[in-house]
Amino acid sequence: MKYMGHKGKMLSVLGEILLHEGRNASSFADPFCGSATVSWYMAQHTKRPVVAGDLQSYAAMRAAAVVTRDKTIDPDMIILPWFERARKVADRIFNYFPNHIKSLQPELKEYEHIQAEVHRSRIFSAEVLPGIISKTGGVWPASKAYSGYYYSPAQAMILDALRQTLPENNDQKNIALAALIEAASKCAAAPGHTAQPFQPTESAAKYIFEAWKKDVYHYVAKAVTEISAIHSNAIGKAIIGDYKQTIAELSEGDLVFADPPYSGVHYSRFYHVLETICNGTEMEVSGRGRYPDPQYRPASSFSRKSESLNAAKEFLDLCAKKKLNVVLTFPANKSSNGLGSEDFIAIGKQCFSEVKVEEVESNFSTLGGNKIHRNPRTLCNEAIIVFRS
Ligand SMILES: C[S@@+](CC[C@H](N)C(=O)[O-])C[C@H]1O[C@@H](n2cnc3c(N)ncnc32)[C@H](O)[C@@H]1O
Repeated sequence: MKYMGHKGKMLSVLGEILLHEGRNASSFADPFCGSATVSWYMAQHTKRPVVAGDLQSYAAMRAAAVVTRDKTIDPDMIILPWFERARKVADRIFNYFPNHIKSLQPELKEYEHIQAEVHRSRIFSAEVLPGIISKTGGVWPASKAYSGYYYSPAQAMILDALRQTLPENNDQKNIALAALIEAASKCAAAPGHTAQPFQPTESAAKYIFEAWKKDVYHYVAKAVTEISAIHSNAIGKAIIGDYKQTIAELSEGDLVFADPPYSGVHYSRFYHVLETICNGTEMEVSGRGRYPDPQYRPASSFSRKSESLNAAKEFLDLCAKKKLNVVLTFPANKSSNGLGSEDFIAIGKQCFSEVKVEEVESNFSTLGGNKIHRNPRTLCNEAIIVFRS
């Protein structure tokens, strides 16, 4: 999954360090789990339960799909009955529009034609779709908020139909929801991290159709197959909430992997589409990004420049008081939230008995307005800091 600051590429080094530092721990926590890459890795590579957490529900639900299950599952047990249920629900709307797939005319190449088609889809989504939806019942958050923007009308309805018909069995439901989130991320007509949809301008119009042509069922099935093939060695937990709730699950000597935000813009601004789809709740949206009101988007003190240093201090103090060991990753240079790895090192030296630092080269996203680098992706040094209590 595309995720700002996602640690997949660092796992060859980071994974070794985590396994080593956690060798005597009874549990492992990933309280800022994001894409859940690190939670999944630790769940598969240790015999200890993993407790994952994040302020955003879609992140915690991605983690839950693996950390709370200790067996593989046959993906066809999920895919076949689920897709059958979803197709029935989607057909209640599609039956009104027998040409819904053709309506995209994907062979259009001229940008003026694409622009006209996008415009037509937006009018249809705003003026026709709500009336049909109100006759069919059910909740249609993606169709109401994102149809004609991040998704074609057909894609948005399929995403909603899949969300409405998730399996009942808990393990299957977690896998299905995580797969739906991944498919929603991969099909979104948006650059980078889905903060805003592509607009039908001369240069970007072709990307809208490229995304709108993607078969949602295909992406969901692929993700279900991949996720159901992996499992944890010990049953863990996934928590939607502040890192303190996740840390509260740990005991003295346990290991925390900390990857707090470095962006001065809240993560929920970038990933609101995934959050809406995960929650399955209809939202009023506004602005170019079609954002839900800020009161519905989780905010973090790590992403407020005036509060980030205190947030870092409070986090490390809490871990030290509980006698936890921490492995923390953070860009070496000052980031857009005002923090750099040096800040964590200086704080850690006050409250941990040992602080060790390694730097690795990392290609990280500066979305969120890093003042020094304007490139969307920049090579930088990422520090891996080990705090031993
Ligand atoms: C740098 S990202 C984590 C990336 C993740 N390690 C990965 O590999 O994908 C930081 C995450 O912290 C979450 N977050 C921010 N403030 C938080 C808080 N106070 N408690 C829990 N999670 C928080 C954000 O929602 C975001 O998903």
